[in-house]
Amino acid sequence: MRIGTSVSTKKLDEACVNEYKIPLILMMENAVISAIKHLDTNLYNKYVIVSGVGNNGGDGLGIARQLKAREKEVKVFIVGNMEKITPCSKTNLEILKAMNIPYIVIDTKEENINHLEQLEAAIKNSNVLVDCIFGTGLEREIKGIFRYVIEIINKNKNLVYSIDVPSGINATTGEVLGVCIKADKTICFEFYKRGFLKYETKKYIGNVVVEHIGIPEYILKKHDDNEYITSMNFVKDNIRDKNKFSFKSNFGKVTIFAGSKGFSGAAFIASEAAIKSGSGLVTLVCDEHIQDIISSKLSEGMTANYKEEDRINELIKTSNAIGFGCGMGNNKTTLERLQYVLNNSDCPLIIDADGINVIKNNISILKKYKNKIIITPHLGEMSRLTGKSISYIKENRIDVAKEFAKKNNIIVLLKGYETIITDGKDAYINPTGNSAMANGGMGDCLLGMITSFVGQGIELFEAVICASYIHGYIGDILSKKMYTVNATNIIEKIPVIMKEFNI
Ligand code: APR
Repeated sequence: MRIGTSVSTKKLDEACVNEYKIPLILMMENAVISAIKHLDTNLYNKYVIVSGVGNNGGDGLGIARQLKAREKEVKVFIVGNMEKITPCSKTNLEILKAMNIPYIVIDTKEENINHLEQLEAAIKNSNVLVDCIFGTGLEREIKGIFRYVIEIINKNKNLVYSIDVPSGINATTGEVLGVCIKADKTICFEFYKRGFLKYETKKYIGNVVVEHIGIPEYILKKHDDNEYITSMNFVKDNIRDKNKFSFKSNFGKVTIFAGSKGFSGAAFIASEAAIKSGSGLVTLVCDEHIQDIISSKLSEGMTANYKEEDRINELIKTSNAIGFGCGMGNNKTTLERLQYVLNNSDCPLIIDADGINVIKNNISILKKYKNKIIITPHLGEMSRLTGKSISYIKENRIDVAKEFAKKNNIIVLLKGYETIITDGKDAYINPTGNSAMANGGMGDCLLGMITSFVGQGIELFEAVICASYIHGYIGDILSKKMYTVNATNIIEKIPVIMKEFNI
């Protein structure tokens, strides 16, 4: 699913009209028809449409006509300065007039209190309100009559469906411009709006659906912003098939550097997750004094300790992927070990946790690595890496992650609600995962899954996107029946869910 802003929406509209000769009114009608599908016309009969004077308002007038054609009771209100009505909205208004569909204008110049009372009465006497006041064209603080209208809508208990954007949210930044419609459902056109990724918007957008309005795929691709929400089909298309001729060597040999005294769990979880994700061979490299305890649990994995230099050398030279960092300790030894791997290995390297902490002031050591590096920071680690505050990163997650990935030529997975994965050019937002998974070991599990997928030969960027999706997807399934979901619960389910995805 594509993510877009007000700017990309405008660019796309212009391209359709100027380059491809698709008239705006045609796209508006496609939008209208696609929105109707989500207005639950099989359940409800009485609708109030509140339109602005821009094209979002025009969508609303078209929706009113289509609802009327389905024999629904429809009350239409148009709020704004009628002198500014856009040509497409005007066309739709002319059709309403010709069809004798009544409408009330709440004019910004008159501020007629009667009309507001009529609006409130109409809302009380209906089931559904369709909000088409402002879409991607909202550009300044909402004041005066618009504010009253939005407050009246929010005060009432009807179902509220917003078209394209809940009126009040800046579709690009997510900023609420003074007041905002609280939608139960938002029906977006072509793009999931970038502003919806901001935490503060979640209470306004309700369930979001994205509808296509008939714009050809190649036009979209040419004009999109390279930002997407991962879909299940993307994951299904990218995970590896097993066939009857497969050997364990076809599914990759991976090495995980993890664990230290008191952190044997991290080492176990990362390695076990790699095993269950389908790796051919998994070896854990850890401290000598935790090796035995982990060996006894890791039935299908091998272990090595740091004193076995020859073995480590062989492992890092022959692995298809290396995972590094969980529970290793934020100290000089971990940095030295990372440097050793960087100097002597040439396979993709996935760095997490203490591996990230130790590069905080040494990010340049990644530069000379002979293969691609993936880092998987959470907000705190990202803050330490970039020197930016957590609150800043939280509100600018895509930009911060993209910029860091681009600058250092690495892949970044920025963890959190709606994890972001970016190679500096494209960004994918992961829609799976939930707060029942917010506990120790989850990140170790994710590292193991990513390392395994990369080792299996899935393209690097795709491997990270798929691991993140499946990790959260399993968590979502389990959280329906479990108050808290732990990494070991996830690990157990990986083979079952991967099979489901691989049919
Ligand atoms: N207060 C009052 N009027 C405003 C404000 C504001 N804070 N902000 C913008 N406007 C006015 C603009 O001056 C313009 O008249 O609202 C109108 C634009 O609103 P939109 O309908 O959101 O913008 P527009 O570009 O016409 O249409 C974009 O059309 O493709 C559809 O629904 C889709 O969201 C998309 C919309």
